[in-house]
Amino acid sequence: MTSPTDPSHVKFVATAPSNIAFVKYWGKRDAKQQWPANDSISMTLSASTTETMACRSSELFDSFTFGGQTITSATTPNHKVFSQIERIRQTLNIQGHLSIASKNSFPTGCGIASSASGFAALTIASAAALTGCATWEELELFGVSRERIASLARQGSGSAGRSLYGGYVRWSRGSSAEEQSIRPIFAPGQWALADVIVIFSDHEKHVSSTEAHKAAWGSPLFEPRLAGLSERLHLVSEAIESRHLSNLGAAIEADALEMHAVAMTGAPAVNYFTPETTQFISWVRSERTSGRLPAWFTIDAGPNVHLICDPKQLQTVTNRIKKEWPQAKLIVDQTGTGPTLHKVTKSSGAHHD
Ligand code: DP6
Repeated sequence: MTSPTDPSHVKFVATAPSNIAFVKYWGKRDAKQQWPANDSISMTLSASTTETMACRSSELFDSFTFGGQTITSATTPNHKVFSQIERIRQTLNIQGHLSIASKNSFPTGCGIASSASGFAALTIASAAALTGCATWEELELFGVSRERIASLARQGSGSAGRSLYGGYVRWSRGSSAEEQSIRPIFAPGQWALADVIVIFSDHEKHVSSTEAHKAAWGSPLFEPRLAGLSERLHLVSEAIESRHLSNLGAAIEADALEMHAVAMTGAPAVNYFTPETTQFISWVRSERTSGRLPAWFTIDAGPNVHLICDPKQLQTVTNRIKKEWPQAKLIVDQTGTGPTLHKVTKSSGAHHD
């Protein structure tokens, strides 16, 4: 039996968005400290989210429920979700086990990577449940700043750290692992962009990004990529600042192709493209040249393509894809404002932050 004062009666609910990188994080300088080889810049999304609910548990283990399945730290202690909860407990120096349930807004197995939104939501909800803080202000007063949560989320999965903020976010690697930082560089209102996610395959990726980060060092193209990135980071920041879509588009396409070229020439080589990916990006470029498709592509560690465009052109872009690529599933997303946190108690309902 629980009472309103019983901590397990209070549920902390975090909703965190996914993000799409315009300059990709690819390769780690130090995997243990999650120190990236390069700075990355992403746009936080709005519709593709993970909602995670955490509450304190009286059990002697943590539990995690997703897609109707529950796992526990008693039986799978090395699962990355439980390593992340343990990391949060140790960093905050707060004891106690958690019961966690999580779901994605996008269908699972639709080919969208969920580790960014998943680890961001898991980290926020766990920090809230452990501290008992239900708002960002309370967390801050408790000494758990958003920056600290971003740093913890980043240790679970690198790209998750950028999902702590809305708008456009830069993860800077700094000159040491301790110096790295994740900061919003432009607010969501700076520029609303649409992201049409074109899904060709809903299979799990055969090589995780964590594995592929390691393989990058074996590519002869990796050092040249790193050497050219400060210029691209500058171009992308400038394009966002001046809302120059074709400049942004050229830079994000170049970056995605370069990242995949590094993957394809890595040791071992990793090819995330399917024949459809290659055909689709060639089609995007020729359609754009003939003025029929005002959109630019970027591709994460999988076969599916994100098309970035002006929201005013969404109808044109989606109609054109539906007509020529009827087999593809589409998810329409856009620039988002970042994660939210609230608590729910059985007696008092929700308190939103
Ligand atoms: C292609 O964040 O998934 O999406 O830190 O090992 O969990 P880990 O890797 P992850 O890598 C993301 C790679 C990317 C590019 C990006 O989001 O910057």
